[in-house]
Amino acid sequence: MSSIIEVTHLEKVFGDKRALQDLNFQVEQGETFGFLGPSGSGKTTTIKILTGQLRKTSGEAKVLGLPAEQLNKPEYRKRFGVVTDNSGLYQRLSIFDNLKLYAQLYDVPLNRIEEVLEMVNLRNEQKTQVVKLSKGMTQRVILARALLHKPELLFLDEPTSALDPVNSKHIHTGLKELNKLGTTIFLTTHDMSEADYLCNRVAFLHKGKVQLLDTPSQLKKQFREELIQVELRDGSQLELPLAPASAAELQGYLAADQVETIYTKEPTLGDIFVEVTGRELI
Ligand SMILES: Nc1ncnc2c1ncn2[C@@H]1O[C@H](COP(=O)(O)OP(=O)(O)OP(=O)(O)O)[C@@H](O)[C@H]1O
Ligand SMILES: [Mg+2]
Repeated sequence: MSSIIEVTHLEKVFGDKRALQDLNFQVEQGETFGFLGPSGSGKTTTIKILTGQLRKTSGEAKVLGLPAEQLNKPEYRKRFGVVTDNSGLYQRLSIFDNLKLYAQLYDVPLNRIEEVLEMVNLRNEQKTQVVKLSKGMTQRVILARALLHKPELLFLDEPTSALDPVNSKHIHTGLKELNKLGTTIFLTTHDMSEADYLCNRVAFLHKGKVQLLDTPSQLKKQFREELIQVELRDGSQLELPLAPASAAELQGYLAADQVETIYTKEPTLGDIFVEVTGRELI
């Protein structure tokens, strides 16, 4: 596997505020990479730098093997897609006509529009003017637009923040499918179960740096409390060390048919988020 995004000692300063301090990470081709962190930690700033919309202060950011500043050049724009809340949709045009304009700009056949509308669950609304759409519907049009040209790399900045659970689930299925077909996805989200479901690896951003980076399952193992929780049939609860020393005691309860349930406590990505950043989810 080769890295599709390479970030080394990246720094971004706004006036007297250092948004990114010493950011380092790589995204491998074909993965879905979760970029997680508290509000104001620099996720959107990073996406803007990686897509050539914002200049870095220092360090290196390479995307698709190119310096990120070059990505806003027309010849490279076809290779990636971006979803942020900065919509740029034509309010008076219908959903279909907005997508048609993009399809023409990107030399995409018009029958692709139906496919992307299906993916975002908006086929029946395609004649509606964008100005009349709800926030969640607008978010889905922006996602559809980013998918039109089948980009090899997709940046998604909180793509489901305005969506109801049914539409989120529909989008999740579509993103899994897209990833399976080879699109690399860089995703920010405040929804830790979304990150857990979609991402091969996640990075936790805090204080301008990546504090932790691994697969969700490794992180959960790493942060797991080494305890076995046992609930007995009489309603009492026990905690035993997850170790050979607990075997005899556990066997005793099992042999006497006293055990109602046994489990080990798995932390969620949300628990890990709070532990790493010291902050509750916002
Ligand atoms: N154009 C700008 N001028 C000055 N400061 C900015 C600018 N853009 C971002 N910042 C600051 O940089 C920091 C990071 O902002 P950013 O929008 O990247 O955070 P975020 O992680 O995307 O937050 P959220 O989860 O709320 O979207 C914040 O302190 C913000 O105030
Ligand atoms: Mg943001």
